[in-house]
Amino acid sequence: MTPTRHRTWIIAIDGEAGAGKTTVAQILAQRLNGIAFSTGALYRALTYWILQRFPPDAKQPFPPNEEHLAHLLKQCHITVQWQNHHQQHVYINGEDVTQHLYSHQVEQYVSQISKLRIVRSFLLPVQRQAVAPYPLAIVEGRDIGTVVFPNAILKVYLTADPHVRIQRRSAQHRWSIHLAQKHIQHRDHIDRNRTIAPLQQAHDAYILDTTNLSIEEAVDQIIQWFHERIQQQRQQALTSNSIQP
Ligand code: DC
Repeated sequence: MTPTRHRTWIIAIDGEAGAGKTTVAQILAQRLNGIAFSTGALYRALTYWILQRFPPDAKQPFPPNEEHLAHLLKQCHITVQWQNHHQQHVYINGEDVTQHLYSHQVEQYVSQISKLRIVRSFLLPVQRQAVAPYPLAIVEGRDIGTVVFPNAILKVYLTADPHVRIQRRSAQHRWSIHLAQKHIQHRDHIDRNRTIAPLQQAHDAYILDTTNLSIEEAVDQIIQWFHERIQQQRQQALTSNSIQP
């Protein structure tokens, strides 16, 4: 007997650094009883694991060349699990690496790893498999609506004035405004200009500017869009059923 295959509903949240993606995804997950999936955590976990095997020093270039990376990735089994739907843990070869994801070194090297084609292809099926057991996933990243889940029921692209994003990042990490500004500018530049899966709005994404919105207001708007999209889908299903012979 074939097991019943349910469908996972995806809300894709893409957007710029500091636009509020992580917080919005967490609250949406709580309110809608879905999982909150930060896909950046996978790029961070892989960066941590590669750094362990390939510590950057003056003698060897970082990241390792493609051939070497391909060999390394064959030994890497990466999975994600959730506790209480919103506490996400990332495992590599069975080891929980979650506590290392926001270290200074990972922060420094993650964008060099996440821009590589071989890394993006490696993590694509990991992201799709991770959500499969769940009925609803709020997935946050840069290429979720464009590449990873192009059939998401709702795609949201979050944006905000750069000054506001800098202030939020500074408060979030207790960084100086100067450091937060450097960080945001660097991230924006790399995320938008990389050749593979650059940050861009999906053509069918709803754009939400959070500059003058509280988190709750942003979340309320997304929930309203989500319900509208469900209605539209139901309507479409009814229409296509009614014209069938
Ligand atoms: O969202 P974050 O700060 O945890 O992301 C970490 C890095 O991973 C950052 O360089 C952007 C990159 N990233 C990506 O390229 N694609 C994603 N879907 C998620 C994150």
